[in-house]
Amino acid sequence: MILVTGASGNVGKAVLQEVAKSRAKHRAMYRSTVEATKAPPGTETVIADFAKKDTLLTVLRNVDSVYLVCSPIPQLVELESNMVDACVAAGVNQVVLNSAMGAGDYDKSFPSWHRKVEDKLKSTRLSYTILRPNSFHQNVVAFFAPSIRTQGVFYSSMDAARVSFLDVRDIAVVAAKALAGGEHAGKTYELNGPEASSYAEVAEKISKQVGSAVQYVDIPMEAQRKAMLEQGMPEWQVTALLQLQEYYTGGKGGSVDGLLQRLLGRAPITMDQFLAEFADEFRGQAANA
Ligand SMILES: NC(=O)c1ccc[n+]([C@@H]2O[C@H](COP(=O)([O-])OP(=O)(O)OC[C@H]3O[C@@H](n4cnc5c(N)ncnc54)[C@H](OP(=O)(O)O)[C@@H]3O)[C@@H](O)[C@H]2O)c1
Repeated sequence: MILVTGASGNVGKAVLQEVAKSRAKHRAMYRSTVEATKAPPGTETVIADFAKKDTLLTVLRNVDSVYLVCSPIPQLVELESNMVDACVAAGVNQVVLNSAMGAGDYDKSFPSWHRKVEDKLKSTRLSYTILRPNSFHQNVVAFFAPSIRTQGVFYSSMDAARVSFLDVRDIAVVAAKALAGGEHAGKTYELNGPEASSYAEVAEKISKQVGSAVQYVDIPMEAQRKAMLEQGMPEWQVTALLQLQEYYTGGKGGSVDGLLQRLLGRAPITMDQFLAEFADEFRGQAANA
């Protein structure tokens, strides 16, 4: 039995789709009963919360493998650690941990939080596979599409830093394979996309797929901080995002290697393919009228 946690989230939902497709016996964990109704047909659903330790053992009954993911919040270390403890207590065999690029060498921001959970997991008797993905294609819709729809522009302070974006659906394929353990047990996979692009190049790609001019505007980091705070983002999140950007502007996010392709057994989804599929997300009201 496989347990997929974070089944309402970006990666967890994609992992659940993959696991459900494989017809393996599985269960999906949600916090919200409303979200649980969206599970694929044939999926057993459970309601639990990493913060409520007493809910976790029941969820793990008869479970052999767990896909573990949590939102990128400061409590992630404690929350995922609770689940790791519960996996040990419940006799789980294999845990696939969704970590992040940078967990191996960056002691700030989200990567440093993920590293703490990686270390915790490795200190147990559990078999594990750690996934350290680069930035998701889906971030381009989540973070850039709103201002592109209204102004044809997106802003950041990434300068010419390159990012090897990858698709959460490809991460999910790797996660589903790793849940079986086997050759993936004990491995840490740094997952990068098939090409590295600067934000200016991403803007060109969006323009091409959407059919109207889209521009990337580089702004000073302090201006980006101010804008994010004015949008109502909490200070911890703004700081973590800007520190992560420093990792990229330091040249760390643009690796391209064949690992993802080898793990998938096919070519990864490219940014162009992703943008062609989701072009409508970037079209403004005028275009949709
Ligand atoms: N975005 C990127 O480019 C990127 C790159 C590399 C790594 N990552 C890492 O990938 C991870 C997942 O990202 P994502 O975009 O999929 O996040 P997400 O959409 O926020 O999904 C997180 C999932 O965790 C669940 N969750 C949160 N708190 C929980 C709790 N107390 N108990 C049980 N479940 C809880 C959420 O459930 P609810 O719906 O109930 O909140 C949701 O299903 C993050 O840790 C992030 O650091 C992201």
